[in-house]
Amino acid sequence: MSHPVSSSRVSARLPAFPWDRLEPYKATAAAHDGGIVDLSVGTPVDPVPQLIRAALAAAADSPGYPTVWGTTTLREAILGWLARRTGAAGLDHQNVLPVIGSKELVAALPAQLGLGPGDRVAYPEPAYPTYEVGARLARAEPVPYQGDPTELDPAGLRLLWLNSPGNPTGRVLSAERLRAIVSWAREHGVLLFSDECYLELGWESDPVSVLHPDVCGGDPTGVVAVHSLSKRSNLAGYRAAFLAGDQAVLGELLGVRKHAGMMLPAPVQAAMAAALGDDAHVAEQRARYAARRAALRDALTGRGFRIEHSEASLYLWATRGEPCWDTVGELSKEGILVAPGEFYGAAGERFVRVAFTATDERVAEAVRRLS
Ligand SMILES: Cc1ncc(COP(=O)(O)O)c(C=O)c1O
Repeated sequence: MSHPVSSSRVSARLPAFPWDRLEPYKATAAAHDGGIVDLSVGTPVDPVPQLIRAALAAAADSPGYPTVWGTTTLREAILGWLARRTGAAGLDHQNVLPVIGSKELVAALPAQLGLGPGDRVAYPEPAYPTYEVGARLARAEPVPYQGDPTELDPAGLRLLWLNSPGNPTGRVLSAERLRAIVSWAREHGVLLFSDECYLELGWESDPVSVLHPDVCGGDPTGVVAVHSLSKRSNLAGYRAAFLAGDQAVLGELLGVRKHAGMMLPAPVQAAMAAALGDDAHVAEQRARYAARRAALRDALTGRGFRIEHSEASLYLWATRGEPCWDTVGELSKEGILVAPGEFYGAAGERFVRVAFTATDERVAEAVRRLS
């Protein structure tokens, strides 16, 4: 007789973990004389800014339970950042909710909203894979869309994901597009979640939040933005993100997440408040990324790649018109590891995603090898 865990495996509902398929190419790249240049994963490599570390350390003596809603100081820091950086107007404490990194939220959201069989969850393609994972964990129907989400059939559509600036393409939706999508979603009673974790990483475009009054009309009803400090503040290791928008939706999530004990550690809350209050470290980090991006972009185009979109985010979405695994294979022989576009959906099968989150030294080495 099989154990109940093995007969009802949740993991069987989920896609195969794609990164395992990159392992042989990683081994090839690692065998290169000058070592591997890993541009496959978008993980920050630069130091956590000193003021954030100091805030974390100062809150080290935190013996009591933190709250799921976060400290007043943290919520005020979130509201200050929202007003300053997104132009959102009229938001209050009920309009914000800290989460334990945005991946956790993306994966848990459909279930925490009570979605299930018969409900549809739409997300862009190609996209960050966790939108699909969230739908599958809730047994809702995953609906990938290419192009304009307002052409989706709204029947049974309960949750619509946007991701601007987008991973993996770096594409940015204009305020006008966003406004049209918000009004379509409202008209059809579809809840709109906008993943904006790369908002402060625009290069050739200035990304706009769904919370900007030009987009949502100064009213967050039916709209929630997802923000993360992982990229903006090199805090992927801290797990620090938050939601902002519709008070009724956030109130419901707060209620559920309180029961589940989904709270940010108190020292992380303190660090996050300090990080959100400071823009200087973001400007410094942006300058590092801008230089790495420009160097890699030139090197890739020099090698015959075409770069599509990529006007924001931490990635270059590159193609030579060949199947992505051919590109991955060839670059791995030069010790450079990139992510095959297929990881992000069938629409990416002729692209690779090149992250510029490696050190200056490693990026210079990649540029030397590509030249
Ligand atoms: C589009 C998108 N959303 C969410 C995340 C998750 O970020 P985190 O969980 O670190 O907040 C990522 C990470 O790469 C991402 O690319």
